[in-house]
Amino acid sequence: MNYIRNIDWVSLTRRVMARVAVTDGMDKKAVKIIIDAGHEVILQHYSAEELLKGALSSFDAVVIRSATKMTEEVILGSKKNNGKLTFIGRAGVGVDNISIDTATKNGITVCNTPRASTRSVVEMTVAHLLSSCRNIATADRKLRQGVWAKKELLGSELSGKSLGLIGYGRIAQGVGVAARALGMEIHAYDPYVPAEIAQKQNCRLHKEVDSVFKMCTHISIHCNLTDETYHLVNTSRINLMPGVGTDGINCGNHLINCARGGIVDEEAALEGLQNGQLSSVALDVFEVEPAINNPLFLEENFHGTPHIAAATKEAQARIGIEMASLIIEHFEGNKPTTALN
Ligand code: MLT
Repeated sequence: MNYIRNIDWVSLTRRVMARVAVTDGMDKKAVKIIIDAGHEVILQHYSAEELLKGALSSFDAVVIRSATKMTEEVILGSKKNNGKLTFIGRAGVGVDNISIDTATKNGITVCNTPRASTRSVVEMTVAHLLSSCRNIATADRKLRQGVWAKKELLGSELSGKSLGLIGYGRIAQGVGVAARALGMEIHAYDPYVPAEIAQKQNCRLHKEVDSVFKMCTHISIHCNLTDETYHLVNTSRINLMPGVGTDGINCGNHLINCARGGIVDEEAALEGLQNGQLSSVALDVFEVEPAINNPLFLEENFHGTPHIAAATKEAQARIGIEMASLIIEHFEGNKPTTALN
């Protein structure tokens, strides 16, 4: 009797059994949570062509990472043949691969997991900062080629240098804290962040992007890719960088992007490496991904990783669990916590 009284009849009758497509992979525990909640999960990657033909039309939800592009045409394709898609989950932060407007017009909720990968991306950025100034990737390549480059690989310390953060959200603030602990002076540009936040963290917030470039030997990108930020890092801005640290050491200029491809003009970065204005460029993200045969790969002082800043066991487990709970919330008839529309 008590047992029957304790059942939440309202949420039980509201719950819908959903078919969920997971197109770019998901942590196993998260898949189990979704299945245990009564839903069906299909792990399957679809080509752009299959998506356009309506491969998602038999699904109620799709979970993607960056490889699947939910463009206007793909979303409309999913609505073909009485398509019933009502949920797009972005297992990650960036939603530049989803046409949110089209989703909204078609009654589809879009959610991301904005916090789950912060720590991993912070650590990856710091790893690139350290690795490029100490020539770690270059040294490793040379060692494998049988070259003992002890004399030629003279690095510089991060301590006594200035770091410019373009975008000052959660990830940039985390990078700022770590870089300050290493002795760097922190500058940032972010028109959407209140000055008090930067002040509290001992970071100098600039009103102009150019003034950050003028003051910093190290620039790290942490903004979204939008029309406004496309090729924000270009030749004229790279040429503003001082090449000399606040400690007077000629450390050269260093550029890092673990945010989104397209914010750095890769031709400008290549030119900067070739003419010596940039001493290193480290990219985890590229304008065209997968990045194959990119001309930057021929440059000794280029350090690349294949969009893996959020690829840690910890981040993927957190992302999966958060995404599972968003799906469950949605199909229980509630607005998911991180809904973007
Ligand atoms: C993100 O936006 O969360 C990252 O770029 C990670 C990814 O897309 O895999």
